[in-house]
Amino acid sequence: MEKITVIGAGNVGATCANVIAHKDLAKEVVLLDIKEGIAEGKALDIWQTSAINHFNTRVTGVTNDYSKTEGSGIIVITSGLPRRPGMSRDDLIKTNAKIVKDVTEKAIKHSPDAIIIVVSNPLDVMTYAALKASNRPANKVFGMAGTLDTGRYRAFLAEAINVSPNDIHAMLLGGHGDTMVPLPRYTSVNGIPVSQLLEKEKINSIVERTKKGGGELVNLMGTSAWYAPGAAAASLVEAIVDDQKIIVPLCAYLNGSYGLTDVYLGVPVKLGKDGIEEIIEIDLDDDEKKLLETSANSVKNVMKALDDMNIL
Ligand code: NAI
Ligand code: 2OP
Repeated sequence: MEKITVIGAGNVGATCANVIAHKDLAKEVVLLDIKEGIAEGKALDIWQTSAINHFNTRVTGVTNDYSKTEGSGIIVITSGLPRRPGMSRDDLIKTNAKIVKDVTEKAIKHSPDAIIIVVSNPLDVMTYAALKASNRPANKVFGMAGTLDTGRYRAFLAEAINVSPNDIHAMLLGGHGDTMVPLPRYTSVNGIPVSQLLEKEKINSIVERTKKGGGELVNLMGTSAWYAPGAAAASLVEAIVDDQKIIVPLCAYLNGSYGLTDVYLGVPVKLGKDGIEEIIEIDLDDDEKKLLETSANSVKNVMKALDDMNIL
């Protein structure tokens, strides 16, 4: 790909640009921030690792200059405030919705055909904000959360079973928040159902830890995580650039799938060069359906709250 833009050169954005560059996913990565000098500095720092770590992707940093993002194939939006201790993702809604709307409108003017990956929180609702601001088809505007959440879940399971995290295959549904729905029934260790390798109680405790995985890190660090979130967003970029057609949980616009309409929610999709190529509907038992409905209602309430603010 010629160019990829990452908006927001904070912890997550800079990490994402760094991973994209290290994987040589584009000729150029443009890192953009509103804070004078920060994107330029981080981009220069990343670029100076190119000769050390053997990559060619040029990394450019700009302060609010969207002309430099012209012709990007993918735009990753990470701009916004992160969560602080005691703050829920939804507390961020108003401030971050204004930011996401503003940056989306500016970026899409210069890259009208771009696929947009949203990372800013509250994730599901910010993705909705980007959809409205961009006027792009919904399969080209989606949010990153499931890769991160399953990444955490897989890491916890790998530790508990003492196997490679690469061997843990897992699926997860729902919003990026405490109502997310990890699915032990769809979790295996290279095909072996996880229930054959771990006690039910242990699996349940890992599911609960995963749901609060973001908060655990906020409490430890005083701000939210960035290594795994940045890498997770870059892995979606990679799937698009390489047309991988991976099945991955991400925050997609639902218009009938899972019996849900007009809501952004985490579901399994096939991701390739055209963005979301298919939403995959897996069979759910009654409990799983209920949890998904609760999660959808929780996201819908925040979407409605955002609509009522008349920002979009
Ligand atoms: P950060 O504070 O380190 O970086 C945010 C950057 O956005 C700052 O450099 C800031 O100057 C910039 N920014 C603010 N307004 C802007 C604008 N109008 N235009 C351009 N840049 C602007 O925050 P961090 O840790 O990088 O997190 C970024 C966002 O990602 C937060 O909303 C956070 O909650 C979210 N997040 C989402 C995750 C997910 O799984 N979806 C995981 C981790 C974080
Ligand atoms: C996370 O899950 C806070 O959404 C952020 O790390």
